[in-house]
Amino acid sequence: MEEEIKQIIAEAKVAIAQVPEKELQVTLARYIGRKSKLTEILKSLGNLEINQRKIIGDLANRAKADIEAAFNERRLEIANQKQVDSMHRDVTLPGIKTETGHLSPITSINQELLDALIELGFEVVEGPEAELELNNFDLLNIPPDHPARDEWDTFWLKKGKNSKTSTLLRTHTSPVQIRYMQTHKPPIRIAAPGRTFRYEAEDATHSSVFSQMEGLMVDEKISVANLKAVIIHFVRKILGEDKQVRFRPSFFPFTEPSFEVDVWFNDQWLELMGCGMVNPQVLRNVGIDPEKYSGFAFGVGVERLAMLKHNIKDIRLFLSGDLRFIEQF
Ligand code: PHE
Repeated sequence: MEEEIKQIIAEAKVAIAQVPEKELQVTLARYIGRKSKLTEILKSLGNLEINQRKIIGDLANRAKADIEAAFNERRLEIANQKQVDSMHRDVTLPGIKTETGHLSPITSINQELLDALIELGFEVVEGPEAELELNNFDLLNIPPDHPARDEWDTFWLKKGKNSKTSTLLRTHTSPVQIRYMQTHKPPIRIAAPGRTFRYEAEDATHSSVFSQMEGLMVDEKISVANLKAVIIHFVRKILGEDKQVRFRPSFFPFTEPSFEVDVWFNDQWLELMGCGMVNPQVLRNVGIDPEKYSGFAFGVGVERLAMLKHNIKDIRLFLSGDLRFIEQF
């Protein structure tokens, strides 16, 4: 057995001294790992008589230490060699520029919008793109057959018996409000970015697939002043601190009063987004007491902001996959 151990040491040292880096670890395991001969010997010590047991045990343990030392030495040698190699590299040769991808303008504007809200304590949440008719319409105070539904031309997925079973591609991010308020109690501060879908003819300013970011804040004593402060804060954050923001009366079934937000940009007022105080009926629909709580909500079109910021003239470019477009950002 002594002979055997000596042989293992000799063999291991030779193997480890020449092994390339990527096989270093397996080679070590081959000689001292769980399935190695050395481990087998150590395990069988119990069968030996006491004197032999001590001699062979010592020997095997020393062998293990020797092999580990050889391993460490080889590792150091490889590291040193690498350093030497890199010193001999000719750093004056021209480099090869690697192609790297980058974020799409929608992703980066989304991130900027989120940052502006996160610093106010908003939490980012998401909802599904395939929604129930109930969440996309009914609970947002848009009953079936209400003319307001025409505003949101819909891609239906499955027509069920009623709005609890009919599914559609969400026409706005507002159903995320519903989902969140059904499962959380005020105070609520959420930002919900995501894709939305509308069944409509596409042109330079209309796309049937686009992105929105929904904001919702519900607490005691939330007023229009809070709504204005938050919206002005993030419009300025994205488009510039000097920007003028204007609120015009508007209508949404889920907010009352409702506003359209405009920004003064390139010498004209441009419509940016819809917003308003959460309609008490919507709060009631999700089990929040409108006598105690109030809130505001807004929904901003992300492509629209990106178009303003980067002077993009056609919304269809975002989904065109045209590299000449994408590589500009
Ligand atoms: N959901 C509305 C839309 O898509 C925007 C909006 C959101 C308006 C929240 C008011 C409050 O048109």
